[in-house]
Amino acid sequence: MTLTKPSVVVTRKLPSAIETRMMELFNVCLNTNDTPFDRGQLLAALKSCDVLVPTLADELNAEILSSPGLTTKLIANFGNGTDHIDVSAAQAAGIIVTNTPDVLTEDTADMAMALIVAVPRRLVEGARIIENDEFRGWSPTHMLGRRMSGKRLGIIGMGRIGLAVAKRARGFGMTVHYHNRRRLLEDIEQEVEATYWESLDQMLAHMDVISIHCPHTPATFHLLSERRLKLMKPDAYLVNVARGEIVDESALITLLQQNLMAGAALDVFDYEPAVNPDLLALSTVTLLPHMGSATIEGRIAMGEKVIINIKAFADSHHPPDRVLPL
Ligand code: DGY
Repeated sequence: MTLTKPSVVVTRKLPSAIETRMMELFNVCLNTNDTPFDRGQLLAALKSCDVLVPTLADELNAEILSSPGLTTKLIANFGNGTDHIDVSAAQAAGIIVTNTPDVLTEDTADMAMALIVAVPRRLVEGARIIENDEFRGWSPTHMLGRRMSGKRLGIIGMGRIGLAVAKRARGFGMTVHYHNRRRLLEDIEQEVEATYWESLDQMLAHMDVISIHCPHTPATFHLLSERRLKLMKPDAYLVNVARGEIVDESALITLLQQNLMAGAALDVFDYEPAVNPDLLALSTVTLLPHMGSATIEGRIAMGEKVIINIKAFADSHHPPDRVLPL
């Protein structure tokens, strides 16, 4: 059945260009004041619209997706990660789920690379010295960091973003190592001169910087457990722009407190948006408010993907970015 103008509920404010286009194409209910939806609002939306456009902050679990009386037939997620959606439960309820892959690869890789440099070179610590009016002049031993060139970068999850990070890291003279469920094709490996480690444990023990780029799934929850974090060298750094749940945050904090790891840069947290106060007390961490993909170009491209997915669904075609259960 073709829907001329599907009813669409959007849970957060989107870039104006996207909202304007959605108003032209759909019967859309926008969230102009950007207040996050609570469970009641999510359920009401699922019971009234054809298409829901949620973001990663909207918990669409099996409980809500198995509620009686849902009218939604498409969840067109504004974002790449779908770990906040129980895709199997959606499928069981006859709801298609789509996401926005590809368009945030370069921006996220830029942020990861910025953090890979920022922590060993102590950028945020240095900026704080200026802000606090504590700069007393250059000296040979002041603010010494660690050189990037020649260091080993271990990438966990060599998908699109991992590979984009690898290309950047080569430009900084780092050697690229990776652990992935599947080994890359030889020509792709050669492009970034990457070394494949079948054993994550082995890779962790040999790297200077670890950067996480795998999705959060039941299999990757606390993939960097206390045991694995302890395998890292005491002078190594950890960067996470993927999902907080992949790292055992309390174990990471303990290791940092004990100086058993040199530092960490986190753009994502276990209990987002809450940030563990113990992290704030550490001078060796750089913390960002989940802004890895936050560029206006990226957000517009994500919105365009959402629109294409909704249009395809409304025209009875297969939405291009369908997400299937794991
Ligand atoms: C995503 O789309 O999953 C990103 O985490 C948003 O930055």
